[in-house]
Amino acid sequence: MENGAAPTVPAVIVAIDGPSGTGKSSTSKAVAAQLGLSYLDTGAQYRAITWWMVSNGIDTDDPHAVAAAAGKPDIVSGTDPAAPAITVDGVDVAGPIRTQEVTSKVSAVSAVPEIRARITELQRTIAATAPLGIVVEGRDIGTTVLPDADLKIFLTASAEARAARRSGELKGADVNATREALIKRDAADSSRKASPLAKAGDAVEVDTTALTLPQVIECVVTLVEEKRAGK
Ligand code: DC
Repeated sequence: MENGAAPTVPAVIVAIDGPSGTGKSSTSKAVAAQLGLSYLDTGAQYRAITWWMVSNGIDTDDPHAVAAAAGKPDIVSGTDPAAPAITVDGVDVAGPIRTQEVTSKVSAVSAVPEIRARITELQRTIAATAPLGIVVEGRDIGTTVLPDADLKIFLTASAEARAARRSGELKGADVNATREALIKRDAADSSRKASPLAKAGDAVEVDTTALTLPQVIECVVTLVEEKRAGK
């Protein structure tokens, strides 16, 4: 803080988990921007380390090879919700981490315990140093990464709604193919041994199937404000 002034409100840590296509990223970014908080996209970190494995010829289906390389790439995440940035060894990978190739390999890479340990440590450091607090989105934030978060949200939506949203984002991709790919990735993320996608016991579940994005954002902002007010 400038002049060494203490923040007037205590830092607030918000964990937002859920499967793909529930509106996690859009909601998390908007809530952070609206409340002046930092933002961390943990899926982008798993995508970035996957991109590095692919770029360096590591067989992503070989957990031993992936584990052996887990400590090599230097991953740096920006935390500005208006301009989320991610670099690997100084290279901007915001675009390349969204390719179909990375998307199809990220579940296998993120299931490797050495990868999770490395990325979890990065996430905890970033959350602990956010001056006013942070919105962290992912799959295991409320259960494993930040079990003491002030507020935990678990977003859900029907598979149909999630596939429709994702194929919209992918500019006209086939909805059925997107739906199958989403279901397959969620099943892999939910069934892995190391910190699977799961709702924390003390998380608030928000079903976004019938809600618009502004409605979801408003709901989460209200929950954060209530938490801050001590309700
Ligand atoms: O949110 P996303 O689709 O960009 O995430 C990509 C993958 O990263 C997801 O399929 C599983 C993994 N992931 C994870 O294992 N744990 C997290 N906290 C976030 C993402």
